[in-house]
Amino acid sequence: MQIFREIGPLRAFLIEKKGAGQSIGFVPTMGALHPGHLALIAVSRSQNPLTVCSIFVNPTQFNNVSDFEKYPRTLEKDVDMLEKAGCDVLFCPDEPEMHTRSSYLNFNFGHLETVMEGKFRPGHFNGVAQVVSKLFHIVNPDHAYFGQKDWQQFVIISTLVDELKFNVTLHSVETVRENDGLAMSSRNLRLSEKQRRQAILIPATLAEAKAKLKGGDSILSVKKFVEDTFESNPGITLEYIEVVNSKNLLPLYSVEEADRPILCMAAFVGEVRLIDNMFL
Ligand code: PAJ
Repeated sequence: MQIFREIGPLRAFLIEKKGAGQSIGFVPTMGALHPGHLALIAVSRSQNPLTVCSIFVNPTQFNNVSDFEKYPRTLEKDVDMLEKAGCDVLFCPDEPEMHTRSSYLNFNFGHLETVMEGKFRPGHFNGVAQVVSKLFHIVNPDHAYFGQKDWQQFVIISTLVDELKFNVTLHSVETVRENDGLAMSSRNLRLSEKQRRQAILIPATLAEAKAKLKGGDSILSVKKFVEDTFESNPGITLEYIEVVNSKNLLPLYSVEEADRPILCMAAFVGEVRLIDNMFL
């Protein structure tokens, strides 16, 4: 695997590969890699002769300083995992390389960023859009791969690509889970053993809520069920549960209103914030 820390040499390398007709698959990450990230690499490898992964813990998308500082950084192990997964190129720039100064540019995604993650993490999607735009300009990929776990991020990046006419096809890859159902996440590394056990409540409640909706229960009653379940479990605090139209993220009053409704949740286990979702 070729490793680049600077934009210039990476660009030169990729322009040459593109000139030779190779399609480029791109997997942007913030590192602390786990099998969820590797699933994206595997799909990219199956569709492109050249796969580029980026690792950059992007400060502009953290609305909480301590979350940024405590974000796990495991570069050596990540490099090893990427080598074994057959990734061709790693781009791991430092902060000044990516953000030369605080940006003048501001994205506004309307209602897409005032619900769920956007509502509870003000400025988060502006930071995501800034860094993903930069990465797309630098790598100029033909295909880019994202996880379903961050569904709202996927909808926002799809909007970004559509509005700014990036010449890239986006792919959403199914969430990879631990055996007990917990969605894999870099933040899981921060959970104590006890918290790790408590965190199972997130996928378990989502699955139960999904079954109830499928059985005909109303969205209102299912949201109440989720809220009550979390209230009776100390150590884990629900931030939100929403049932939305997966295309435009608008809240639903009945599941019949959308072709593909999605249940989205965020919860704190101690001070670690985790998100998860399930399509109906
Ligand atoms: P990060 O949280 O590192 O995630 C990188 C990619 O891996 C995202 O597309 C995310 O949805 C996907 N992913 C995470 N956990 C997954 C799982 N369990 N199964 C499948 N895919 C999973 O998302 C970001 O970084 C950043 O916001 C980024 C897009 C890189 C911009 O900084």
